[in-house]
Amino acid sequence: MAKEQWGSKLGVILAVAGSAIGLGNFLRFPVQAVNNGGGAFMIPYFAALILLGIPLMWIEWTIGRFGGGFGHSTAPGMFHTLWNKNRFIKYFGVIGIFGPVIIFIYYIYVESWLLGYSVFALVGKYNGCTTVETMKAFLEQYQGLKTGDYFGGLSTAYVYFLLTFAMNIWIIYRGVNKGIEVVCMYALPVLFILAGFLTIRVLTLGAPNPANPENNVVNGLGFLWNPDWSKLGESKTWLAAAGQIFFTLSVGFGIILTYASYLKKEDDVALSGLTAAVTNEVAEVIFGGSIVIPAAFAFFGAAQMLAVANGGSYNLGFVTMPLVLQQLPFGNFFGFAWFFLLFLAGITSSISMAQPAVAFLEDEFSISKPKASMIFAVVTFLLTQPCIFWIGRGVIDEIDFWGGTVCLVIFAFIETILFGWVFGMDKAWSELHVGSDITIPRVYRFIIKYVTPLFLLFILVSWFWSDLPAKLRMDGIAKPDKPYIQTTRVMLVGLFVILAYLVWRAWKHKPKGGTSNAS
Ligand code: ALA
Repeated sequence: MAKEQWGSKLGVILAVAGSAIGLGNFLRFPVQAVNNGGGAFMIPYFAALILLGIPLMWIEWTIGRFGGGFGHSTAPGMFHTLWNKNRFIKYFGVIGIFGPVIIFIYYIYVESWLLGYSVFALVGKYNGCTTVETMKAFLEQYQGLKTGDYFGGLSTAYVYFLLTFAMNIWIIYRGVNKGIEVVCMYALPVLFILAGFLTIRVLTLGAPNPANPENNVVNGLGFLWNPDWSKLGESKTWLAAAGQIFFTLSVGFGIILTYASYLKKEDDVALSGLTAAVTNEVAEVIFGGSIVIPAAFAFFGAAQMLAVANGGSYNLGFVTMPLVLQQLPFGNFFGFAWFFLLFLAGITSSISMAQPAVAFLEDEFSISKPKASMIFAVVTFLLTQPCIFWIGRGVIDEIDFWGGTVCLVIFAFIETILFGWVFGMDKAWSELHVGSDITIPRVYRFIIKYVTPLFLLFILVSWFWSDLPAKLRMDGIAKPDKPYIQTTRVMLVGLFVILAYLVWRAWKHKPKGGTSNAS
């Protein structure tokens, strides 16, 4: 089977940027920034971008293009290519398929709410909700957590889920060039136009409530941008900032490895990786930071904004924003712009999460694209059901902890060690510069070899030390919810074991040896 390829350089950059720009930029970032003190969050955030995010972008683009040259599009094959003297390394690569799949199964459900809310905004379905409580009730009824005047059960949410799921599978089925690339080429410019438009609208809000003039947009921006050096010693803020950088850039997932595997040997990775990262950061700190936070601050003030953000990951996006936007002239249209922008951001990310698993089946088992897409569809459709029906049991948070946090850091640590130490920094550096349109400052040799892995190790040790025991014991989880969380864990372990078994099977029939690339 001939390996797929991107149609153009712009296409691949937009596809990677599309993967990166997602719900993380517009929903997760404001919540993290608000919960971690605004200006106190931004300093570790930029440090993590420079010391983790950008180096990992380069590492993943380079390993991906290199592994693609050996016919592999996913981490097991790529890791094996980098270190084929080690029989076990390919099993660590399983994380690069497992992680994106399990993020996909909850991410796509949240994405489907955005499609639903786009329609609700246009038709004015939530117009009667004018307080935080009623808007929350609207969301909870939509999710099937309560019944009431707005929704009588889960059926509306389920229809939007089916539609969103079908769209994702169709794009994946169309392939890298005709599906993913085409969608990103159209979706990203529309997304940027909508985001620019909403940003201008929010920044011209001034102080909407004359009784509280200090609740204004400028103070909202100040909350985010006035640096607060006093909290730099708190490891919690550093961990949150690093976690956000991983999630938002889609690094540590395994996705960029797969996308970069469709490059040609001489295609640039240095400038393209940097451009994709910068595009994501513009979407995150300029647009993500200038819409939700200033709008919530201007309408509700700091204290209530904090309370809403603390109340749940989706509250600022699904509760505060529709409340704010519907108070403006043409509020329905602005509401639509907000939710549809998020939907586009979501779909260009979720398709990227599907691609590693599909590519793995195609490459390592010679399964055709339609068949691989169908297998992926059936498996993920089943796995998504607990996220839909057990949402009130904390299942999404559980999957997000393992997939969207732990797997990313472990995977990033492994690939950084493989790149800088096993493959070797000299070879790695020249591989990164093959066909390169820029020369990367040499300080990054030092950063990639020492600083990035040490930073990752610090995060891993801190997490394992502070969070893992409590997580394993299920502290803080209500007794009736525990069986649901246990079942979810069994499901996740089962999926991991099946993927590891598939890797074992795939390699059982491969000729021993192959090309050794470890120095
Ligand atoms: N990078 C994607 C996001 O930010 C996963 O949502």
